Formats: sequence, C-alpha cells, structure tokens
Amino acid sequence: MKPLKFEEQFEDGKHRPLDDYATAAEQYIPGRRAIFAIVEASLQELLPAGPSNILVVGAGGGEEILRLGAANPEWSFVGVDTFQPMVDLAHRRLSESPVGARAKVHTVPIDELDQKDFDAATCILTAHFVPDDGAKLAFLEAIRTRLKPGAPLAIFDGVSMPDEAQAELMRRIWKRHAIRNGAPADEAEKNAQNFKKVAVVSVEREEALLTQAGFKHLMPIFRGLAITGWLAFA
Ligand SMILES: C[S@@+](CC[C@H](N)C(=O)[O-])C[C@H]1O[C@@H](n2cnc3c(N)ncnc32)[C@H](O)[C@@H]1O
Repeated sequence: MKPLKFEEQFEDGKHRPLDDYATAAEQYIPGRRAIFAIVEASLQELLPAGPSNILVVGAGGGEEILRLGAANPEWSFVGVDTFQPMVDLAHRRLSESPVGARAKVHTVPIDELDQKDFDAATCILTAHFVPDDGAKLAFLEAIRTRLKPGAPLAIFDGVSMPDEAQAELMRRIWKRHAIRNGAPADEAEKNAQNFKKVAVVSVEREEALLTQAGFKHLMPIFRGLAITGWLAFA
C-alpha cells in the first residue's frame, strides 16, 4: 500500500477548509507552540548575530516563517512545498505580515531548488510524508546539500511505535488529545487512523536515515506523543 500523501487528506471533500489549517494544527499537534518556541530558541542560540537565510522545507501554510520571523528581523526565509494550495495559503498569510517581505515560498520539490548555502533549515511535520523507499533518504540528502557545512536542521516528525499495542494506545490518546483541544470527534478519529497510513518510521530508523544523509551530532529536542524533534548538523 502506498503511504498517504498530505494532500490526500483533503480529497474526500469532508476535511475542514485549508484556511483553518493553523487552528487544526494547534488542536492536533501536541506542543505545537512549544515546537516553534524550541526551534526559535535553538536557531537563536546557534546562528550568529546578523542576517541568516533559513530554508523551510514543507513551508506550506506559512506557519514556521511567520513564527520564526516575527521576533528575528534579520532572518530571511526560502520555503519549498509541493502542494500548491498550501503554498497559496502561505502566500496569503505572509502578504498580511511584515515578515512576508523577507520570505519567498516556491512550489517545488527540494531537490529542484537551485539555491544553496543556507545558514539553517527547518523541516516540520513534512518528512513523515516521504516514503522510506529511497525517497526519504534522497529528500534528507537534498536538504543537507543545500546547507552550509555545520549548519543546523530542526526536523520534527511523527514516529512509529515499537509494537501494535502501543500504536493503538497512541492513536487513542492522539484522538482524545485533539478532541479535548476542540477538534470534531469524527475528524479526530480519521486523523488518528492516518498514523497507519503515513510513511512514519521509528526513532532509530529516522536517526539512521539522517546519519546516512550526512547529518551529524543528532540531538533530540522534543517529544510529544508520536511527534519527535531533533537538531542535526550538516
Ligand atoms: C503537516 S503539513 C506541515 C506544514 C508546516 N511545516 C507546518 O508545520 O505548519 C505538511 C506539509 O508538507 C508538504 N509536503 C509533503 N510532502 C512534501 C515534499 N516531498 N516536499 C515538500 N513538501 C512536502 C505538504 O504539502 C504540507 O504543506
């Protein structure tokens, strides 16, 4: 079975409109705000004072650019995403913010982005949509080769559980967590079931792939239910 693509969630026409993406993400993703606070603190700590150019992989919706750009006026952003409606949403939201003047978001896969020598990269809740059939490794390599040597990547993904009993419990907690945050019950059930369909890999496999892609000094910086975050250095 082919893993679920992000855009396929919207194909039955029953999903909430994409314009509600930011609200839905806050309901579903454990520690959504903490993730951005941790990424911002990490990059503030690691990047030198002055201008930095940050690559945002899976920039659709514009959330990380808006959040990271707000209090860091010397950071500029280049985003890539493969789903045009999410890029359109990013453009709309960025056009309403002063951060938009420091950001470009392109509808292009990362391996087709010409620009290189980025000072840092983020890849938030995106690599888990890329199948682990060689494509996930190539995707991570394409990020690494666009970074300056030693530059940090902040990567956050859903991960798989060690066995089906834990996976089942995780899905039940995931659903309950979303409902208590205001998500509709039927939508929350569908979203939890997506864990069976998305190309998530284990923590160990994700770390092996990052290492194989040439990233070093992997450092876990977040865990909230199945969502796991690392810093990794090119
Ligand atoms: C769950 S959303 C996360 C968006 C954003 N990073 C955030 O946290 O708000 C996943 C995004 O990854 C994009 N995406 C999926 N596969 C991709 C790929 N191979 N390359 C670039 N973007 C991809 C989707 O179009 C979608 O915009």
